[in-house]
Parts: sequence; structure tokens; C-alpha cells
Amino acid sequence: MRIDVALVPQEIEGKNLEHVTAIVIDVLRASTCIANAIANGCDGVIPTVSVEEAMDISRAYARDDYLLCGERKNEKIDGFDLGNSPLEYISDRVQGKKLIMTTTNGTRAIRTAKTAPCVIIGGFWNISACCKPALALDRDILIVCAGQNGRFAMEDAICAGGFADKLSSLTDARVEETDGCLTARLLYNTFRERLEEALFQSAHGRNLINTGFGEDVKAAAVTDCVEVVPVFHEGHIVPMDISGSAKVHA
Ligand code: MLT
Repeated sequence: MRIDVALVPQEIEGKNLEHVTAIVIDVLRASTCIANAIANGCDGVIPTVSVEEAMDISRAYARDDYLLCGERKNEKIDGFDLGNSPLEYISDRVQGKKLIMTTTNGTRAIRTAKTAPCVIIGGFWNISACCKPALALDRDILIVCAGQNGRFAMEDAICAGGFADKLSSLTDARVEETDGCLTARLLYNTFRERLEEALFQSAHGRNLINTGFGEDVKAAAVTDCVEVVPVFHEGHIVPMDISGSAKVHA
């Protein structure tokens, strides 16, 4: 089995992903929000690439049934219901709601991976939950880091290394790791005992701290606190069920 890490989504643009299981990571903060929203019983997340697309999609739903979510320049978008702070995605707000979400890099990266037969959304919160189901699909694995405006983001690469480490430890198959994967694992092994410190040092972590979102950075560094495996299926992010299929309520 091959484990590849795309350190920025541009590495996979236009590529045929039909033969891989993709795991998309945007630790700060879209993946972490999505994991919390799914754990707290939302009725799926629709990732969009623009504010306009999110507004267009919302017109198909009754106002009580959906929430508009996401950020631009870290801040909640004018007229939206939720921003991009994982701690906002509590059951009182999200339970039973369809979340229509647009973020600068995360939702875009998820859409870039859409040709893969299974696209899992991962962060530190759900590394262990995601790895067994990903391996059970018995395909090569491509981990896609959302990055930051087309550039490398350290927190995503560290988390990708955490995924690669866990995946390798759970399989008996011979694992071939690409240079992207080996590099991500090296980073993870450097920081595995001090993830919070690493996230605080990262450029996007510092940017979030400077704009008042330090608690989000701290929260995103927590490992394995939810059991959910969010998968992007037919335009919606929904929990993978135990049989490996997606539960969709379109
Ligand atoms: C993104 O998608 O670029 C991030 O989630 C941005 C953020 O931290 O708000």
C-alpha cells in the first residue's frame, strides 16, 4: 500500500484520484469544525468554494433547516450564522441542521479531492477514528493538506504525519511512503509530544492568536477526542457508518 501526502492541494489538481482513499486535513480550522459539527449531530455539511455558492445552495432549504457557516480572513462572514471556531459547533446550534460552509482553504481542498471514491475529512480530533475505516477500503491512501492560500501549512503537515504514522501502525501490508509522507512523518515525530506548541508556532496559528482566536488553536491541537469519520459524498459531508458507506440525508 502506498501512502502519499500532498503538502498543498495544488499537487492534486486535475489528477485522477479514482484509485485512492483521500483524507483531507485543515487542522486550523475547517476539519476541526466539521468533526465537531458531525459529532454534535448536524444533518451534514455542504462545503462550498464561495460565499455566493453557499447563498445559492441555501435557497433550496427552509430557513430553520440550515446554517450558513465559515470565514473570510478568519472572521465570520456578514449575514452568516456561524464563523469558523470549532467551539461554536455545539449541539445546541448545529443538531439537526444542514450546515452550508465556505472557508478560505479547507472547503476548497475538500472539493479538490472530490474525484476520489472516498474522501475523509480529518484533523487531530479524529485521527484514530478515521484510520481503521480508511485502511478497510483497501486502496492506496492520499492525504491532502489544505495549506494556506496555496502555500505549505505546518499544522496540516504535522497532522498528515500523524495520520501516516497511525495508518502504518495499523496495517500488516508493506507500506510505500512518498517523500511528502516521509517529510510529514518526520515533522510529526518532532512535535508529537508538543502539538499545541507547534500549532502556536505555525504561521496560521499565530495569525489566529493575533486576531483573537487563540482558544481555537489550543482546541485544534487535542488528539482523538471524537469518534466520527466525516466523509464527503455526493456534495455533502456526512458520518461514515460502520459498514463503510455514507449516511446521506440530502
Ligand atoms: C481555511 O479554510 O482556510 C481555514 O479554516 C481558515 C480559518 O482558520 O478560519
